Amino acid sequence: ATERTLSIIKPDATKRNLTGKINAKFEEAGLRIVAQKRIQLTKAQAGEFYKVHAERPFYDELCEFMVSAPVVVQVLEGENAIAKNREVMGATNPADAAEGTIRAEFAESVGENSVHGSDAPETAAEEIAFYFSGLEIVG
Ligand code: CMP
Repeated sequence: ATERTLSIIKPDATKRNLTGKINAKFEEAGLRIVAQKRIQLTKAQAGEFYKVHAERPFYDELCEFMVSAPVVVQVLEGENAIAKNREVMGATNPADAAEGTIRAEFAESVGENSVHGSDAPETAAEEIAFYFSGLEIVG
């Protein structure tokens, strides 16, 4: 089925001017960028977005990292977009990511791993609504 997923191009990637190269990977995989904006997250917004990880030892580091430079938030649309995006991103840890994936090519570490993608339909809906209003998404 056609799905939408929330994608974030993270600070390590925006700092290195990789937005276009990462977007090319999405488009080559058949994912359409139906909404996109470059924003500077606040610490409070980063903390809220990643609240499911609040008890993890890396939570503070993760939130600090996400506010260290702008991010590009986007909605990707396509057939099985959630799984397809996760395939294009590669494993969370770039050391485990398959050749040709975004994280294998661009990520610096498990923390500074260039991209985020929703992991399931329910979280995709929540994460899209966190950053975008319906009017901002043009399929
Ligand atoms: P993301 O898909 O954005 O969701 C949660 C993030 O936590 C994950 O990508 C990683 O960037 C980060 N993360 C996961 N494990 C670690 C870790 N061991 N150390 C630092 N960051 C981590």
